[in-house]
Amino acid sequence: MYNIAVIPGDGTGPEVVVEGLKVLEKVSKIHGFEYETTTFNYGGDRYIETGTVLTDEEVEGLRKFDTIYLGAIGHPDVKPGILEKGILLKTRFALDQYINLRPVKLYNKDFCPLKDKNEEDVDFVVVRENSEGLYKGMGEFKDKGTKDEVATQISYNTRKGVERCIRYAFEYTRKRNKRKTLTLCGKTNVLTYAWDLWQRTFEEVAKEYPDIKTDYAHVDATTMWFVKNPEWFDVIVTDNMFGDIITDLGAMVQGGMGIAAGGNINPEGVSMFEPIGGSAPKYTGMNVINPLAAVCALSMLLETLGEDAAAKNVEDAVIKIVKNDLKSLGAKTMGYSTSEVGDMVVANLKA
Ligand code: IPM
Ligand code: MN
Repeated sequence: MYNIAVIPGDGTGPEVVVEGLKVLEKVSKIHGFEYETTTFNYGGDRYIETGTVLTDEEVEGLRKFDTIYLGAIGHPDVKPGILEKGILLKTRFALDQYINLRPVKLYNKDFCPLKDKNEEDVDFVVVRENSEGLYKGMGEFKDKGTKDEVATQISYNTRKGVERCIRYAFEYTRKRNKRKTLTLCGKTNVLTYAWDLWQRTFEEVAKEYPDIKTDYAHVDATTMWFVKNPEWFDVIVTDNMFGDIITDLGAMVQGGMGIAAGGNINPEGVSMFEPIGGSAPKYTGMNVINPLAAVCALSMLLETLGEDAAAKNVEDAVIKIVKNDLKSLGAKTMGYSTSEVGDMVVANLKA
């Protein structure tokens, strides 16, 4: 029996989460597991009504669940940063979800913006550190508002934080068992404190994984290779900020935000899964947003619960639909409505 916390969130988040839950219901019956969901109204609307973003007690309350399923956070009437920091980042940090796992997999070459690249060429995973770096929120203003103002923003990297992320990435590369190559993506030529620590740690941990090939790419070059030679990558490990940036590019290379999913993972605790696109407020209630990213997030959630067969069943259904039915992965241009695509996933599950 799994206890699942559901946070539909803002904008189109609730619409795509409904489709994911439809798929969950069916796949649980096929694979014979039981679950219970508890829905939380955390998000922009509640904040506007009550002034509460997410209290410490509420985030602590999420600890008692087996996993968390999230729609989207971000509201047009709330100043940028309040909900993102107060809900999304607060949960990642409080539950120590120190890995942000983002698969970049092309399911239909027709949706790839890269010329002459096919499904085999775009199939890699980014392991983004999710608890430190520039996201730590360290820094200050000096002489704010004056012409001598200085703003600093510090990238905070601990040996322990870096090592656990790198170790996770090596383990993941081994388990994935594809090209058995782990690439460290950094900026050792300029950021000579942070990336010195990352590189030293990477080289040390690598000695424990002689079966894994290692590689290094600067982050700027990484964006170039994503476009030019995505087939070079298997698993990439990087820090919080670089991971944030390169995974948006990754989402485009795999066909669009309509398919991109991610997991905020605490391997020893409670993880949270989400479509990586935003809340797309202008499409709210129009039933036009692609729910497949949320469905892919559900597949990742199931895998983390240990329901591997169910996870694969869901992913295979998504692949079929993306290969055979959809006209695109974008909002309004899929050829079907949000709920129709959810129904198609359910219909394509193997009994
Ligand atoms: C993401 C998002 C978040 C991030 C924002 C909304 C805080 O862009 O999940 O990639 O920067 O991590
Ligand atoms: Mn991002």
